[in-house]
Amino acid sequence: MSEREVRALFARAYGGEPCVVASAPGRVNLIGEHTDYNGGEVLPIAIARRTWVAARRGTGERSRAVSAAERSPGEFDAREPVRTGAWWDYIAGVVSEMERRGLVAPPAEVAVWSDVPLGAGLSSSAALEVATTLALLALAGVAAERREAALLAHRAECEFVGLAVGIMDQFVSALARPGHALHVWCDTGAVEHVPMGESVLIFDTAVPRALRGSEYSTRSAECERALALLRRRYPELPSLAAVSPEELSGVTLPEPLLRRARHVSEETHRVRRMVERLRSGAPVDGSLLIASHESLRDLYDCSSPELDWFVARAMRAPGVRGARLTGAGWGGCAIAVGDEDALRAAAPAIAAEYEGAFGRAPRWWITAAAAGASVAGEGASGGA
Ligand code: GLA
Repeated sequence: MSEREVRALFARAYGGEPCVVASAPGRVNLIGEHTDYNGGEVLPIAIARRTWVAARRGTGERSRAVSAAERSPGEFDAREPVRTGAWWDYIAGVVSEMERRGLVAPPAEVAVWSDVPLGAGLSSSAALEVATTLALLALAGVAAERREAALLAHRAECEFVGLAVGIMDQFVSALARPGHALHVWCDTGAVEHVPMGESVLIFDTAVPRALRGSEYSTRSAECERALALLRRRYPELPSLAAVSPEELSGVTLPEPLLRRARHVSEETHRVRRMVERLRSGAPVDGSLLIASHESLRDLYDCSSPELDWFVARAMRAPGVRGARLTGAGWGGCAIAVGDEDALRAAAPAIAAEYEGAFGRAPRWWITAAAAGASVAGEGASGGA
């Protein structure tokens, strides 16, 4: 039980007990990739791996942070935190965002324990930001409405840490429910919990994500450019995701902008089709996952040989109904959906063959749609 671990870490670092313990999960996205920052729809699930944050009011003017995963403890000015490029920027970013909103974040002693794999594209940073947000809001005596917490955590990432990402990761980490995927309309922030009872194999290709940040920014800029050009023809277009495939076929856009726009438009339609299916109680439509993967590979250019290999190989395993890359791409993780027994039977052989083919040891986990953020002693959906 990881609450025990984080309490033990807290006691070792600061002595005594924390006043609050909050936790938040990592995520995988079922479908709807690179649509969130284009005003589209996404359908992620929370995974059964979480980050735990224990906190207590400190003394003096500085906040302190320790993490079980990091060698060095951190310290920052509790009134005016400054970005340093260190791991505790995620915590300092939440403090900075609280101050910007006029909430007084008290100096704090913070301990972090997590079993969300770092750097694998499973949103370990969103899990840390969301858990920190809930813990620090509780310390400050501010009632934590989950959506507000997600928005605050998201701004901490975009404004303080400096990575302009969409809202998917923080939303699902804050708002997910067990046994459900989270359908998010990223233009309005509206959400719907859609039943999703199947197991998901998460496969980490173990490809370093050196390129992910810069390629992500390039795609985001391409999408902005595509939207600007499309608005010359359709001035009312609210976002790139809102352009229909038919409207796209009536315009001339330079490449690669046309391919990027086609992906965003069609992917949003795939999310809607998947949601309709799940709402009706039907299982995940594997063909939509495959279509999504192919579009990410061919139109969005964010796959990798390793991710393509996994999808092809997973689809040959009995009982696997769909597979695709998940998250930003360019390495990182892919998923396969099917019956739990089938996934458990298939995974070791797939992993061994992968290592033989690419010389990298992959990691894999099986998850079901898990719970979103919670504060110990409060209901999991408290304040949602
Ligand atoms: C990253 C970002 C998300 C989303 C995905 C692509 O994971 O953090 O906001 O844009 O890429 O769908």
